[in-house]
Amino acid sequence: MTQSKTTKTFLNQQVANYGLFYTKLHQFHWYVKGHNFFTLHEKFEELYDQVTLILDDIAERLLQNNGQPYSTLQEFLEHATLKERPYTKAMTEDEMVQTVIDDLVTLRDELVEGIKLTDEEGDDVTNDMLIAAKSKLDKELWFFSSFLGKDQVPQTNAD
Ligand SMILES: [Fe+2]
Repeated sequence: MTQSKTTKTFLNQQVANYGLFYTKLHQFHWYVKGHNFFTLHEKFEELYDQVTLILDDIAERLLQNNGQPYSTLQEFLEHATLKERPYTKAMTEDEMVQTVIDDLVTLRDELVEGIKLTDEEGDDVTNDMLIAAKSKLDKELWFFSSFLGKDQVPQTNAD
């Protein structure tokens, strides 16, 4: 099948997002301090391991459709919707977890858009890949929200 330009642009924006998120999670993995150090240090690592798998799947799906995934840090920064910042000011454990929740919500909501888009275009394989990614992120979102004693942030857009 021929993948639309809109789907390719969407997928590439996600390549940028997951590329950035991968590094950002390392920042938290390295700098986290406090009573939950052992838990969070390990949990952030688990999440960046998941993120790198999703990044790779999306980039390779683009290549299978003659797309050109971004492959430099500069491109990731230019095209990501997530934001990062240098670690110049200490963050509490809870601030880090809240940042991860906020980013997961952004990623999840963008995946829902991509799921709709690929469904409309009959791009079943990409659709399936995005649903699998969403299933992983939903679970992570539940983990991190529960850590803070919070309910899940509801989806603003439908599955
Ligand atoms: Fe490590």
